[in-house]
Order: sequence, then C-alpha cells, then structure tokens
Amino acid sequence: MAPLLSVEGLVVDLPVRGPTGRTHHRIIDGVSFDVAPGEAVGLVGESGSGKSLTLRSVVRLLPEGAEVRGSLRFADADVLTMNRKQLNALRSSGVATIFQDPRAAVNPMRTVGDFVLEGPVRAGGRNRDEVLREALGLLTDVGIDRPEQRLRQYPHELSGGMLQRIVIAAAILSRPQLLLADEPTTALDVTTQSDVIAILDEQRHERGLAMVFVTHDLDLAAAICDRTCVMYAGRIVEDQLSSTLHDAPQHPYTAALVAARPVLDIDAGCELPVLRAIRGRPASAYEAPSGCPFEPRCNHAEPACSATRPPEVNSGCSRVACFRASELRGILALEVETHA
Ligand SMILES: Nc1ncnc2c1ncn2[C@@H]1O[C@H](COP(=O)(O)OP(=O)(O)OP(=O)(O)O)[C@@H](O)[C@H]1O
Ligand SMILES: [Mg+2]
Repeated sequence: MAPLLSVEGLVVDLPVRGPTGRTHHRIIDGVSFDVAPGEAVGLVGESGSGKSLTLRSVVRLLPEGAEVRGSLRFADADVLTMNRKQLNALRSSGVATIFQDPRAAVNPMRTVGDFVLEGPVRAGGRNRDEVLREALGLLTDVGIDRPEQRLRQYPHELSGGMLQRIVIAAAILSRPQLLLADEPTTALDVTTQSDVIAILDEQRHERGLAMVFVTHDLDLAAAICDRTCVMYAGRIVEDQLSSTLHDAPQHPYTAALVAARPVLDIDAGCELPVLRAIRGRPASAYEAPSGCPFEPRCNHAEPACSATRPPEVNSGCSRVACFRASELRGILALEVETHA
C-alpha cells in the first residue's frame, strides 16, 4: 500500500544567534519514516531529541528562518514546495494537529463555537448547519455534555481536559486523513489523561485515521501505536512494531529507555518506583559526535562506533541504526527482561 505520509532524509537547521552573529544549528539530521493510511506511528525519545520539530515539519510549522531539506510527501503531494494556499488547505483538511496545551490552540477572546465551526465552514463543502450538526454529534462522542451550551462558552469557562476533548473533536470535524498529536495529554491530570487518550484512540480507529503520536512515554506509544520510532539527537535510531519493541529492542538506546521506565520493586519490599536513569545527558544533532550519536552514553560501544555514523539497516518490519545490532539482540532482550 502506498504510504499516506512519506518522510525521507529530513534535515532541519534552525537559526541561532552566536557570538559571531547568526548561524544555524542542525536539529533534525536525516529522519525518514512512512505512515500508511490508517496506521499509527509513535515518535519517542528524550527531551530535545527532535520529536516536535519532526512533527511540525510535516505541516511546515517551523520557527522562522528554519532551513528544511529532504523529501516530505503527503498523499503524494510535495509538502516542501507547497505555496501558502496549498499549505493552508493541507492544515485545514488533510492533516489535523493536536498540541500539548489546548489553551494555546484556541483564541481566549472568541467562543468555543467559533473555534470549532469556523475552519470546516471556511474549507467549504458543508454549510454552517451541516457542520454544526456534525460538531454536536462529535462533541457528544468525545464526552462533552450539553454541547450546544459549550459552543456558546469561552475557553476560560472550561477545564483543560474538556478543552482538549473539544480540540480533538474540532480536529476530526475537519475530516483529515492524518492526525498529528504532540504529547496531547501532558498538560492534563492523570485520570483525564487516560480518558482523553481513550477517546483519541477510539475516534481514530472508528474513522480509520492515520496518526503520528509524539510522547515521552514508551508504554503509551506501545499501547496506541502500531509502530514506534525511537529518536535520538535528531535521528531515528530504531523503528519497530510496538508489539515487539519492549521485549526485543534492537538499539542499545531503546533498551536503555525501556529499562529506564519506573517499575515497582515489590519483591524487595520497596513501594517506591525504581528509576534506572541513562548515564550522561542527551545530545542535540549539532553537538552529537561524528560517529554514533549515542556512543558516549552506550554501555555496548566499541571503538568503531565513534569512527563513523551507523547506517539504518532494515530487517523485516524493523529498522535500526547500530553497528552491533545483530550481535546485541539477545543481550538487549535479556537486559530489559531483568529490569521488567
Ligand atoms: N525555536 C527554536 N529555536 C532554536 N532551537 C529550537 C527551537 N525549537 C526547538 N529547538 C531545539 O531543537 C531541539 C529539538 O527540539 P524539539 O522541540 O523537537 O524536541 P522534543 O524531542 O520535542 O523535546 P521535548 O520532549 O522536550 O518536547 C532542542 O534541542 C531544542 O532546544
Ligand atoms: Mg516536544
């Protein structure tokens, strides 16, 4: 099946002001991944690994002065050469984006109804009454009671959880083929988080929407995504089926992330979560060493790892960028098993 979204060799350089004037820093360093129609792909990795900028590149919502190279195709259209009108069409119908903070998505001076209805009405194809009818049904589906009244309210009158449900309903109302979700529940309390995730997952499945889902949470990605891409220093170091990622990681960084998840060591009589941090600190693409970017923090590194960049190697349903991947497979599986 032809991919709905195809990202190949994406490179993003951002402008920074240095002591000698303006320069550019490499932030995304050759990211490639495909998303099939209806497929959900997770992007995970530590803070600063480039998850959000990869996601934002898909709809070209990047900081001013960003330099973008590579290939980005959505439904076979070249996103990188789109003009403003084509980009507006892409953002208002083909691809819907849900960010971490729902309050940042809405205008506090305008009603919820303005926010929900305006885009789809402006996009054409449905009159205001049709859009309104569909919106009321969708708001009910995402768990909003008294939807007519909510549409007349202002954002400050609603809780964060309620507002994020409304943002999800508005995203679906635009009838996209692809949802981009960037940590859509991080700003919400734990109970609301699971409700909102369940709604997002249910609505996506019901409508056969594809999704790219950014999160720090490996377990969450595994639960709602078909595939998970693990990012480090602006690159994808592993791309695997979510169902096998935890038990059979192929990259030492993935194994370290799996082992770093908090676990309760009940056998040892300890009720506090055991945290196994990854030593060292994450690097950005521009400061990563010339060999494998994870080499300085890797427990399995050899001298060859610092000499050249490991290429991405495909095997079956997975892809990994580690010189030692095949010999480490059993060792990494054992490592995560002993931490489980
Ligand atoms: N507007 C900007 N100008 C300069 N650098 C930026 C800008 N936005 C992001 N960066 C840098 O780009 C890198 C990647 O940022 P990005 O937001 O994609 O990370 P992330 O993986 O989403 O992290 P987090 O998990 O903290 O959200 C970081 O080092 C960040 O400091
Ligand atoms: Mg981010």
